[in-house]
Amino acid sequence: MDAAVEREWIQEKLDIGKEMLYLTRDEVAKTGLVEEDILELTRSALVAHGKKEYEMPAKIGVHPYEEVFYHAMPAYVPAKNAVGLKWIECYPSNPSRYNLPQTTGLLVLNDTESGCPLALMDATWVTAMRTPAVTALAAEALHPDAESFGMFGSGLQGIEHCRFIVHTLKKLRKVYIYDIKEEAMDNLIKTVQPQVDVEIIRGKNPEAVTKSSQVLSSATVILLDTLAVVKDKWVSAGQTIIPCDLNTFWDPLISKRADKYIVDSAEEHRHFAAMGYFPDGLPEITCETGEVLAGFSKGREKAEELIVCSNIGMAVCDVVVGKEVFKRALENNMGRILPL
Ligand SMILES: NC(=O)c1ccc[n+]([C@@H]2O[C@H](COP(=O)([O-])OP(=O)(O)OC[C@H]3O[C@@H](n4cnc5c(N)ncnc54)[C@H](O)[C@@H]3O)[C@@H](O)[C@H]2O)c1
Repeated sequence: MDAAVEREWIQEKLDIGKEMLYLTRDEVAKTGLVEEDILELTRSALVAHGKKEYEMPAKIGVHPYEEVFYHAMPAYVPAKNAVGLKWIECYPSNPSRYNLPQTTGLLVLNDTESGCPLALMDATWVTAMRTPAVTALAAEALHPDAESFGMFGSGLQGIEHCRFIVHTLKKLRKVYIYDIKEEAMDNLIKTVQPQVDVEIIRGKNPEAVTKSSQVLSSATVILLDTLAVVKDKWVSAGQTIIPCDLNTFWDPLISKRADKYIVDSAEEHRHFAAMGYFPDGLPEITCETGEVLAGFSKGREKAEELIVCSNIGMAVCDVVVGKEVFKRALENNMGRILPL
Protein backbone atom coordinates (compact mmCIF):
# COMPACT_ATOMS: atom_id res chain seq x y z
CA MET A 1 0.00 0.00 0.00
CA ASP A 2 1.26 3.49 -0.88
CA ALA A 3 2.47 5.32 2.28
CA ALA A 4 0.06 8.26 1.88
CA VAL A 5 -2.91 5.96 1.24
CA GLU A 6 -1.89 3.81 4.21
CA ARG A 7 -1.73 6.88 6.48
CA GLU A 8 -5.20 8.01 5.40
CA TRP A 9 -6.52 4.53 6.08
CA ILE A 10 -4.93 4.54 9.57
CA GLN A 11 -6.27 8.06 10.26
CA GLU A 12 -9.83 6.86 9.58
CA LYS A 13 -9.50 4.44 12.50
CA LEU A 14 -7.05 6.21 14.79
CA ASP A 15 -6.61 9.93 15.38
CA ILE A 16 -2.86 10.07 14.68
CA GLY A 17 -1.05 12.26 17.20
CA LYS A 18 -3.88 12.07 19.71
CA GLU A 19 -4.41 8.32 20.01
CA MET A 20 -2.50 5.05 19.77
CA LEU A 21 -3.48 1.37 19.64
CA TYR A 22 -2.49 -0.89 22.55
CA LEU A 23 -2.31 -4.63 21.88
CA THR A 24 -1.88 -7.29 24.55
CA ARG A 25 0.22 -10.45 24.06
CA ASP A 26 -2.94 -12.41 23.34
CA GLU A 27 -4.28 -9.87 20.83
CA VAL A 28 -0.96 -9.71 18.96
CA ALA A 29 -1.10 -13.48 18.53
CA LYS A 30 -4.66 -13.44 17.21
CA THR A 31 -4.56 -11.08 14.24
CA GLY A 32 -4.60 -14.03 11.84
CA LEU A 33 -0.99 -13.94 10.63
CA VAL A 34 0.18 -17.48 9.84
CA GLU A 35 3.66 -18.95 9.30
CA GLU A 36 3.65 -18.21 5.55
CA ASP A 37 2.84 -14.54 6.25
CA ILE A 38 5.59 -14.26 8.87
CA LEU A 39 8.08 -15.91 6.51
CA GLU A 40 7.28 -13.47 3.69
CA LEU A 41 7.40 -10.43 6.00
CA THR A 42 10.67 -11.60 7.54
CA ARG A 43 12.11 -12.32 4.09
CA SER A 44 11.26 -8.78 2.97
CA ALA A 45 12.98 -7.35 6.06
CA LEU A 46 16.10 -9.48 5.48
CA VAL A 47 16.21 -8.58 1.78
CA ALA A 48 15.87 -4.86 2.66
CA HIS A 49 18.75 -5.37 5.08
CA GLY A 50 20.78 -7.17 2.40
CA LYS A 51 20.16 -4.29 -0.03
CA LYS A 52 21.18 -1.80 2.69
CA GLU A 53 17.77 -0.17 2.44
CA TYR A 54 17.24 0.29 6.16
CA GLU A 55 18.40 2.16 9.22
CA MET A 56 19.21 0.07 12.29
CA PRO A 57 21.92 1.10 14.72
CA ALA A 58 23.40 -1.72 16.80
CA LYS A 59 21.45 -2.47 19.97
CA ILE A 60 22.27 -0.38 22.99
CA GLY A 61 21.57 -1.91 26.36
CA VAL A 62 21.71 -1.81 30.12
CA HIS A 63 22.74 -4.68 32.38
CA PRO A 64 21.49 -4.50 35.99
CA TYR A 65 22.93 -7.96 36.75
CA GLU A 66 25.54 -10.14 35.14
CA GLU A 67 24.11 -12.33 32.33
CA VAL A 68 20.97 -10.20 31.88
CA PHE A 69 20.39 -7.53 29.31
CA TYR A 70 17.84 -4.97 28.20
CA HIS A 71 18.16 -3.91 24.58
CA ALA A 72 16.76 -0.92 22.75
CA MET A 73 16.26 -1.98 19.14
CA PRO A 74 15.18 0.80 16.76
CA ALA A 75 14.72 0.31 13.00
CA TYR A 76 13.34 1.98 9.90
CA VAL A 77 12.47 -0.03 6.79
CA PRO A 78 11.37 2.36 4.00
CA ALA A 79 9.98 -0.40 1.75
CA LYS A 80 7.37 -1.19 4.41
CA ASN A 81 7.05 2.35 5.74
CA ALA A 82 7.82 0.77 9.10
CA VAL A 83 9.58 2.60 11.92
CA GLY A 84 9.70 1.70 15.58
CA LEU A 85 11.58 0.46 18.59
CA LYS A 86 11.61 -2.85 20.44
CA TRP A 87 12.55 -2.64 24.11
CA ILE A 88 13.37 -6.17 25.14
CA GLU A 89 14.97 -7.96 28.05
CA CYS A 90 16.60 -11.35 28.48
CA TYR A 91 16.77 -12.90 31.95
CA PRO A 92 18.03 -16.49 31.51
CA SER A 93 16.89 -17.52 35.00
CA ASN A 94 13.32 -16.20 34.67
CA PRO A 95 11.80 -19.66 33.89
CA SER A 96 13.25 -21.32 37.02
CA ARG A 97 12.98 -18.31 39.37
CA TYR A 98 9.60 -16.88 38.45
CA ASN A 99 8.05 -19.25 35.94
CA LEU A 100 8.26 -16.35 33.49
CA PRO A 101 9.72 -16.30 29.96
CA GLN A 102 13.42 -15.49 29.51
CA THR A 103 12.50 -12.82 27.01
CA THR A 104 9.72 -10.23 27.29
CA GLY A 105 9.34 -6.77 25.84
CA LEU A 106 7.34 -4.07 24.12
CA LEU A 107 7.27 -2.79 20.56
CA VAL A 108 6.44 0.83 19.72
CA LEU A 109 5.51 1.75 16.14
CA ASN A 110 5.48 5.31 14.85
CA ASP A 111 3.98 7.26 11.99
CA THR A 112 6.83 8.02 9.56
CA GLU A 113 5.21 11.35 8.49
CA SER A 114 4.64 12.96 11.89
CA GLY A 115 6.73 10.69 14.13
CA CYS A 116 3.77 10.22 16.47
CA PRO A 117 3.37 6.83 18.19
CA LEU A 118 0.81 4.64 16.41
CA ALA A 119 0.92 1.53 18.54
CA LEU A 120 2.34 -0.14 21.61
CA MET A 121 2.24 -3.92 21.68
CA ASP A 122 3.63 -6.84 23.59
CA ALA A 123 6.72 -8.02 21.70
CA THR A 124 6.78 -11.66 22.84
CA TRP A 125 4.83 -13.06 19.90
CA VAL A 126 6.62 -11.00 17.26
CA THR A 127 9.98 -12.14 18.68
CA ALA A 128 8.79 -15.74 18.95
CA MET A 129 7.73 -15.72 15.27
CA ARG A 130 10.34 -13.67 13.43
CA THR A 131 13.27 -15.51 15.04
CA PRO A 132 12.43 -19.02 13.73
CA ALA A 133 11.40 -17.43 10.45
CA VAL A 134 14.97 -16.11 10.05
CA THR A 135 16.39 -19.58 10.83
CA ALA A 136 13.96 -21.25 8.41
CA LEU A 137 14.77 -18.79 5.61
CA ALA A 138 18.52 -19.16 6.20
CA ALA A 139 18.14 -22.96 6.14
CA GLU A 140 16.25 -22.75 2.85
CA ALA A 141 18.95 -20.57 1.31
CA LEU A 142 21.91 -22.56 2.64
CA HIS A 143 20.71 -26.17 2.71
CA PRO A 144 17.43 -26.50 0.75
CA ASP A 145 17.63 -30.27 0.25
CA ALA A 146 18.20 -31.17 3.92
CA GLU A 147 16.27 -34.18 5.16
CA SER A 148 17.19 -33.83 8.84
CA PHE A 149 17.08 -30.92 11.28
CA GLY A 150 18.39 -30.84 14.86
CA MET A 151 17.07 -28.36 17.42
CA PHE A 152 18.75 -27.67 20.75
CA GLY A 153 16.40 -26.11 23.29
CA SER A 154 12.73 -27.06 23.42
CA GLY A 155 11.37 -23.88 24.95
CA LEU A 156 9.38 -21.16 23.22
CA GLN A 157 11.90 -20.75 20.39
CA GLY A 158 12.52 -24.49 20.04
CA ILE A 159 8.79 -25.11 19.56
CA GLU A 160 8.42 -22.37 16.95
CA HIS A 161 11.58 -23.46 15.12
CA CYS A 162 10.14 -26.96 14.71
CA ARG A 163 6.88 -25.48 13.39
CA PHE A 164 8.57 -23.07 10.96
CA ILE A 165 11.33 -25.27 9.57
CA VAL A 166 8.90 -27.59 7.78
CA HIS A 167 7.69 -24.66 5.67
CA THR A 168 11.07 -24.05 4.03
CA LEU A 169 12.91 -27.40 4.10
CA LYS A 170 10.54 -29.27 1.81
CA LYS A 171 12.49 -32.56 1.87
CA LEU A 172 12.67 -32.71 5.64
CA ARG A 173 11.82 -36.11 7.12
CA LYS A 174 13.24 -36.10 10.62
CA VAL A 175 13.59 -33.47 13.34
CA TYR A 176 15.82 -34.34 16.31
CA ILE A 177 15.37 -32.35 19.49
CA TYR A 178 17.38 -32.06 22.68
CA ASP A 179 16.81 -30.16 25.93
CA ILE A 180 18.23 -30.60 29.42
CA LYS A 181 14.63 -30.67 30.63
CA GLU A 182 12.70 -33.83 29.75
CA GLU A 183 9.40 -32.02 30.28
CA ALA A 184 10.36 -29.36 27.73
CA MET A 185 10.92 -32.07 25.08
CA ASP A 186 7.63 -33.76 26.07
CA ASN A 187 5.83 -30.47 25.65
CA LEU A 188 7.45 -29.73 22.27
CA ILE A 189 6.48 -33.14 20.90
CA LYS A 190 2.95 -32.90 22.29
CA THR A 191 2.50 -29.41 20.84
CA VAL A 192 4.20 -29.67 17.45
CA GLN A 193 3.97 -33.32 16.33
CA PRO A 194 0.20 -33.14 15.57
CA GLN A 195 0.84 -30.07 13.38
CA VAL A 196 3.68 -31.36 11.17
CA ASP A 197 4.23 -34.28 8.78
CA VAL A 198 7.86 -34.91 9.75
CA GLU A 199 8.86 -37.23 12.58
CA ILE A 200 10.04 -35.44 15.73
CA ILE A 201 12.55 -37.59 17.59
CA ARG A 202 13.80 -37.07 21.12
CA GLY A 203 17.60 -36.98 20.88
CA LYS A 204 19.59 -39.22 23.23
CA ASN A 205 22.21 -36.53 23.83
CA PRO A 206 23.77 -33.51 22.06
CA GLU A 207 26.31 -35.72 20.29
CA ALA A 208 23.65 -37.97 18.76
CA VAL A 209 21.57 -34.98 17.61
CA THR A 210 24.61 -33.26 16.10
CA LYS A 211 25.69 -36.37 14.22
CA SER A 212 22.16 -37.14 12.93
CA SER A 213 21.26 -33.71 11.53
CA GLN A 214 22.27 -31.94 8.33
CA VAL A 215 20.93 -28.60 9.55
CA LEU A 216 21.12 -27.62 13.23
CA SER A 217 19.89 -24.73 15.32
CA SER A 218 20.04 -23.78 18.98
CA ALA A 219 17.85 -21.61 21.20
CA THR A 220 19.01 -22.26 24.75
CA VAL A 221 20.65 -19.42 26.69
CA ILE A 222 22.90 -16.51 25.77
CA LEU A 223 25.78 -16.25 28.22
CA LEU A 224 29.00 -14.29 28.23
CA ASP A 225 31.06 -17.48 28.54
CA THR A 226 30.59 -20.26 26.05
CA LEU A 227 29.08 -23.56 27.26
CA ALA A 228 30.60 -25.42 24.29
CA VAL A 229 28.04 -28.23 24.67
CA VAL A 230 28.49 -29.28 21.02
CA LYS A 231 32.06 -30.42 20.49
CA ASP A 232 33.98 -29.58 17.36
CA LYS A 233 34.79 -33.24 16.68
CA TRP A 234 31.06 -34.12 16.38
CA VAL A 235 30.55 -31.63 13.53
CA SER A 236 31.32 -32.73 9.99
CA ALA A 237 31.75 -31.25 6.54
CA GLY A 238 28.53 -30.29 4.78
CA GLN A 239 26.51 -29.39 7.88
CA THR A 240 24.71 -26.07 8.33
CA ILE A 241 24.50 -24.60 11.84
CA ILE A 242 22.10 -21.72 12.44
CA PRO A 243 22.17 -20.65 16.11
CA CYS A 244 19.97 -17.90 17.49
CA ASP A 245 21.75 -17.88 20.85
CA LEU A 246 25.10 -16.52 19.65
CA ASN A 247 28.04 -18.85 20.20
CA THR A 248 27.07 -20.03 23.69
CA PHE A 249 26.04 -23.61 22.85
CA TRP A 250 28.85 -24.38 20.40
CA ASP A 251 32.54 -25.09 20.70
CA PRO A 252 34.07 -21.81 19.41
CA LEU A 253 36.35 -23.86 17.13
CA ILE A 254 33.33 -24.76 14.97
CA SER A 255 32.67 -21.18 13.83
CA LYS A 256 36.38 -20.48 13.53
CA ARG A 257 37.00 -23.37 11.13
CA ALA A 258 33.69 -23.09 9.22
CA ASP A 259 34.06 -22.46 5.49
CA LYS A 260 31.54 -19.65 5.83
CA TYR A 261 30.55 -17.70 8.94
CA ILE A 262 27.45 -15.75 7.97
CA VAL A 263 25.70 -13.39 10.41
CA ASP A 264 22.45 -11.45 10.30
CA SER A 265 24.24 -8.22 11.23
CA ALA A 266 28.02 -7.81 11.21
CA GLU A 267 27.61 -4.59 13.20
CA GLU A 268 25.58 -6.35 15.91
CA HIS A 269 28.06 -9.22 16.13
CA ARG A 270 30.99 -6.81 16.51
CA HIS A 271 28.98 -4.95 19.13
CA PHE A 272 28.34 -8.17 21.09
CA ALA A 273 31.99 -9.14 20.74
CA ALA A 274 32.96 -5.75 22.20
CA MET A 275 30.67 -6.52 25.16
CA GLY A 276 32.58 -9.77 25.76
CA TYR A 277 30.20 -12.30 24.22
CA PHE A 278 32.87 -13.99 22.07
CA PRO A 279 35.58 -14.67 24.65
CA ASP A 280 37.60 -16.58 22.05
CA GLY A 281 37.25 -13.80 19.49
CA LEU A 282 34.67 -13.13 16.80
CA PRO A 283 35.16 -15.48 13.82
CA GLU A 284 35.87 -13.87 10.47
CA ILE A 285 32.53 -12.83 8.95
CA THR A 286 31.88 -13.97 5.36
CA CYS A 287 28.72 -11.97 4.66
CA GLU A 288 25.27 -11.21 6.07
CA THR A 289 22.16 -13.41 5.95
CA GLY A 290 20.17 -10.71 4.16
CA GLU A 291 22.87 -10.40 1.48
CA VAL A 292 22.47 -14.12 0.75
CA LEU A 293 18.67 -13.81 0.60
CA ALA A 294 18.93 -10.71 -1.62
CA GLY A 295 21.25 -12.62 -3.99
CA PHE A 296 24.28 -10.37 -3.41
CA SER A 297 26.38 -13.03 -1.68
CA LYS A 298 26.70 -16.72 -2.33
CA GLY A 299 25.21 -19.20 0.11
CA ARG A 300 26.35 -22.79 -0.16
CA GLU A 301 28.69 -23.35 -3.10
CA LYS A 302 29.84 -26.91 -2.36
CA ALA A 303 28.14 -29.86 -0.68
CA GLU A 304 31.07 -30.35 1.71
CA GLU A 305 31.12 -26.78 3.02
CA LEU A 306 30.58 -26.33 6.76
CA ILE A 307 28.45 -23.22 7.19
CA VAL A 308 27.59 -21.40 10.41
CA CYS A 309 24.90 -18.70 10.16
CA SER A 310 24.48 -16.81 13.44
CA ASN A 311 21.36 -14.66 13.75
CA ILE A 312 21.25 -12.60 16.93
CA GLY A 313 18.00 -10.86 15.97
CA MET A 314 17.34 -7.66 14.06
CA ALA A 315 14.88 -4.86 14.69
CA VAL A 316 14.18 -4.57 10.94
CA CYS A 317 12.30 -7.89 11.26
CA ASP A 318 10.43 -6.71 14.37
CA VAL A 319 9.14 -3.47 12.87
CA VAL A 320 8.10 -5.11 9.59
CA VAL A 321 6.19 -7.95 11.30
CA GLY A 322 4.88 -5.55 13.97
CA LYS A 323 3.56 -3.12 11.35
CA GLU A 324 1.51 -5.88 9.75
CA VAL A 325 0.19 -6.96 13.17
CA PHE A 326 -0.85 -3.34 13.80
CA LYS A 327 -2.63 -3.03 10.45
CA ARG A 328 -4.48 -6.34 10.85
CA ALA A 329 -5.52 -5.43 14.39
CA LEU A 330 -6.81 -2.04 13.25
CA GLU A 331 -8.70 -3.63 10.37
CA ASN A 332 -10.39 -6.09 12.74
CA ASN A 333 -11.09 -3.60 15.54
CA MET A 334 -8.80 -5.43 17.94
CA GLY A 335 -7.01 -3.94 20.93
CA ARG A 336 -7.65 -0.73 22.83
CA ILE A 337 -7.33 2.77 21.43
CA LEU A 338 -5.72 4.88 24.15
CA PRO A 339 -5.31 8.65 24.33
CA LEU A 340 -1.70 9.81 24.06
N1 LIG B 1 18.36 -14.46 17.95
C1 LIG B 1 17.22 -13.99 18.28
O1 LIG B 1 16.64 -13.18 17.56
C2 LIG B 1 16.54 -14.46 19.52
C3 LIG B 1 15.20 -14.11 19.77
C4 LIG B 1 14.58 -14.62 20.89
C5 LIG B 1 15.28 -15.42 21.77
N2 LIG B 1 16.60 -15.70 21.52
C6 LIG B 1 17.37 -16.53 22.43
O2 LIG B 1 16.94 -17.88 22.30
C7 LIG B 1 17.14 -18.55 23.52
C8 LIG B 1 15.90 -19.36 23.90
O3 LIG B 1 14.80 -18.49 24.07
P1 LIG B 1 13.39 -19.09 24.51
O4 LIG B 1 12.46 -17.93 24.56
O5 LIG B 1 13.07 -20.26 23.69
O6 LIG B 1 13.73 -19.56 26.00
P2 LIG B 1 13.04 -20.73 26.83
O7 LIG B 1 13.46 -20.50 28.25
O8 LIG B 1 11.59 -20.80 26.52
O9 LIG B 1 13.73 -22.06 26.29
C9 LIG B 1 15.09 -22.33 26.44
C10 LIG B 1 15.23 -23.85 26.54
O10 LIG B 1 16.63 -24.17 26.48
C11 LIG B 1 16.87 -25.22 27.39
N3 LIG B 1 18.27 -25.24 27.74
C12 LIG B 1 18.96 -24.36 28.50
N4 LIG B 1 20.24 -24.74 28.59
C13 LIG B 1 20.35 -25.88 27.86
C14 LIG B 1 21.44 -26.76 27.58
N5 LIG B 1 22.65 -26.55 28.07
N6 LIG B 1 21.19 -27.82 26.79
C15 LIG B 1 19.96 -28.05 26.28
N7 LIG B 1 18.90 -27.28 26.54
C16 LIG B 1 19.10 -26.20 27.32
C17 LIG B 1 15.97 -24.92 28.57
O11 LIG B 1 15.74 -26.08 29.36
C18 LIG B 1 14.70 -24.41 27.87
O12 LIG B 1 13.78 -25.45 27.64
C19 LIG B 1 17.56 -17.48 24.53
O13 LIG B 1 18.94 -17.50 24.67
C20 LIG B 1 17.13 -16.20 23.88
O14 LIG B 1 17.93 -15.10 24.29
C21 LIG B 1 17.22 -15.25 20.42
